[in-house]
Amino acid sequence: MNESQDPTALKQAALQEIQEAGDLDALQQCRVRWLGKKGPLTALLRSLGSMSPEERKAFGQDVNAAKQAVQAAIDSRKTELEAAALDAQLENERVDVTLPGTHGPSGGLHLLTKVTNRLLDVFQSLGYDVVTGPELETEHYNFSALNFPPEHPARDEQDTFWTEDGRLLRTHTSPMQVRYMEQHKPPFKVVVPGKVFRNEAVDATHEAQFHQLEALVVGERVTMADLKGAIQEMADALFGEGTKTRLQPSFFPFVEPGAEFAIWWTHPKTGKEEWLELGGCGMVHPNVFKAAGYEGVTGFAFGFGIERLAMVPYGVPDIRWFYQSDLRVLDQFRGSL
Ligand code: PHE
Repeated sequence: MNESQDPTALKQAALQEIQEAGDLDALQQCRVRWLGKKGPLTALLRSLGSMSPEERKAFGQDVNAAKQAVQAAIDSRKTELEAAALDAQLENERVDVTLPGTHGPSGGLHLLTKVTNRLLDVFQSLGYDVVTGPELETEHYNFSALNFPPEHPARDEQDTFWTEDGRLLRTHTSPMQVRYMEQHKPPFKVVVPGKVFRNEAVDATHEAQFHQLEALVVGERVTMADLKGAIQEMADALFGEGTKTRLQPSFFPFVEPGAEFAIWWTHPKTGKEEWLELGGCGMVHPNVFKAAGYEGVTGFAFGFGIERLAMVPYGVPDIRWFYQSDLRVLDQFRGSL
């Protein structure tokens, strides 16, 4: 009997190859070679037919034992290789959770939001409540209740955006004066931040949409001195103790007397000094109290544009830049405030 007909020798050769199969593909080839229809063990089984019965019995047992041993070796090698493959995959996919993360660009607050928040902080520390009102207003609250005469030019289409149902986009935050008074009893101190809209020809200092901050203080003996003091406190908090402030007579239908106010401002880098004209102010007009159903009280109000307070100190030369979402502009104020 030569080697290719000896079941034990074939088995040894097969076991050797199975052990050496490095992956599942190689093992599958071993199976085909050793146990397949054309394999040597199958050939031996076929040769049984030409043997004597005694011979056949012993030889048949040897061949079957060899086949089973090969099959068992393949099965156990398969389990081994599968486990190894899984290990390799896990190793590959391993995530080191202790490594520092990769960060995408993070957002930040818009300069106008920061300036607004800063203002609200200042006023809250001075005891004011913060309230907000509707941007879509009625003619009543935006104009009539604020003592604007029927023919006042601000009511014109040229200056104000009207909706088809006769309402309008508020042109200032002052309509909240009457809205707030209708709902609350004096004394109180409130500030109203918010968006306002004007039908403007847009240029570097005018936008159709901008922001204002309104203050309203009502009580028993509120005077012009309190108004001046409130503006002074705001200036001190924003630009430092002792900052100069100025009131100049002016006219707004809803205050009497009325004034414009400015803060003396020194540019921290250039040292340039100038009056920063901020907005309007005055003592609440009796007709406004009347419209709100108030009697026997006094109060002052002031209102100013927030953009201006952001543009001048932060050196933003064009109001349109606030709304163009250009990161080259916005990124510069990430660290400010
Ligand atoms: N509402 C005025 C404006 O938009 C500003 C103002 C507010 C004036 C309060 C006086 C009192 O111009």
